Amino acid sequence: MSDSQADKIYYITTPIYYVNDVPHIGHAYTTIAADVVARYQRLLGKEVFFLTGTDEHGLKIEKTATAKGLSAQELVDEVVERFIHLWKVLNISNDDFIRTSEERHHRAVHAFYNLVKEQGQIYLGHYEDWYCVPCETFWTEKQLDSGNCPECGRPAERIKEESYFFAMSAFQQRLLDYLKEHEDFVMPKSKLNEVLGFLREDLRDLSISRSTFDWGISVPDDERHVIYVWFDALINYLTAAGFPDDQERFERLWPADIHLIGKDILRFHAVYWPTFLFAAGLPLPKQVFAHGWWTVEGAKMSKSVGNVVDPEVVVEEFGVDAFRYFLLREVPFGGDGDFSQAAIKGRVNSELANDLGNLLSRTVSMVKKYRQSVIPAADVEGVHYREFAALHDEVNQDVVVAMDNLAFHKMLAAVWRLVEKCNRFIDEQAPWALAKDESRAQELDQVLYCVLESLRLLSLYLYPVMPEKSAQMAIQLGQPDPFETRGPEVFTWGQLVTGGEVVKGQSLFPRLE
Ligand code: ME8
Ligand code: MG
Repeated sequence: MSDSQADKIYYITTPIYYVNDVPHIGHAYTTIAADVVARYQRLLGKEVFFLTGTDEHGLKIEKTATAKGLSAQELVDEVVERFIHLWKVLNISNDDFIRTSEERHHRAVHAFYNLVKEQGQIYLGHYEDWYCVPCETFWTEKQLDSGNCPECGRPAERIKEESYFFAMSAFQQRLLDYLKEHEDFVMPKSKLNEVLGFLREDLRDLSISRSTFDWGISVPDDERHVIYVWFDALINYLTAAGFPDDQERFERLWPADIHLIGKDILRFHAVYWPTFLFAAGLPLPKQVFAHGWWTVEGAKMSKSVGNVVDPEVVVEEFGVDAFRYFLLREVPFGGDGDFSQAAIKGRVNSELANDLGNLLSRTVSMVKKYRQSVIPAADVEGVHYREFAALHDEVNQDVVVAMDNLAFHKMLAAVWRLVEKCNRFIDEQAPWALAKDESRAQELDQVLYCVLESLRLLSLYLYPVMPEKSAQMAIQLGQPDPFETRGPEVFTWGQLVTGGEVVKGQSLFPRLE
């Protein structure tokens, strides 16, 4: 690794969400997934920069504000608080929160626009075609679906106005070549195919300014125009990295390691954004990962249907860590999923209460009862010790591979092998019987040690997904703050601090009726 590589910060982003409406589980999903990656990378010892924020300009926001009798600024100032609050409730560990209405972002957008313009890739023309306001997307007549937006199905509006254009068509071949050489740029693979599908048609130059409303960032040398909201929004990833003011910081952060997005905004991140960056002469993010879509009780979430799930309500009912766990365990990241009361309840009761919570509570109780709470020492030559160490090695390898691929459900499945092994092991070894026989005291110590050490490691593996419960586990296990030491070596079998005492605490996950 060169010095400049060693100096790099792991940079992960979420989309910046529109503040025309309050957050729902879809927004929570992307942000939680990013938080899990950020926490995992920090645990591995990486310096992490985790960015989220809000997308505050554009016609959609302006129209919503007008309908509510508010100014656009009033609307965004009000709604942004809902996002900030939700991220607190969900224990999101973002390092920065960017709002596109901020001054630093205006400067970045102007600087970026000027870079592209200096390359001769922006020109003035006329736009005459269709526009979907809810999606903030331009469409051709041919792309429409009987007059409606092919993306969201709502009616598109006809627009005809003077506009600045970005010469996107000039970058089509370069993007195709890039995708060929960087097979991991778009993940999962099915999404790369979708992008290649978009590129089978000729890219049109992109209208990047509007002159019929003004809630946005003006074009640097033409106050009559505001910059198209997507051109503005994508640049947030640069702004927060220090562009254009802090070159040194920018070089440590950019290119981002990963943009996490939902599949709805793949085209913007995997076609528009790379071509903008080509034109500006800046490096591309290392990866764009598009996850799937959540429905609710089998139906598409929609305001008119009234089935939009407020994450805060779910958290009140199930707890924040159970919610985080459910979202990541229920569906392979990249695939679609359905959120239902029955499904989350089922997982809480069986996996969290029964498998994990019970394991902790029965183990701590046994140490209390049979060893006056004192954590026994290891017998490193012991057969159980070696067997567990070997199993842990496998689990660890699976976790690392799964996390490298953002396969959170696989990571949790691997971790659960250890949970299940411990529960089986206790049933087989029957510590309550060993405790009755003085001559088997060492054997009992070994059994308890192996389960305690597994639980310690479980608290670490589960920390990115369930930070609160994992901290409670560490406390009950009588371990010093396990999240203080960082680095790949944290996941090493045999590091249990012995001689201290376990602390019986509340049940981790009470069963739900
Ligand atoms: O598109 N299932 O913002 P947005 C899963 N401002 N994820 C969902 C979801 C669902 N049902 N609904 C929404 C924008 N999401 C732009 C982004 S980025 C430079 C600008 C998540 O408020 C998913 O991450 O419409 C999706 O990409 C994002 O919310 C869209 O949020
Ligand atoms: Mg949207």
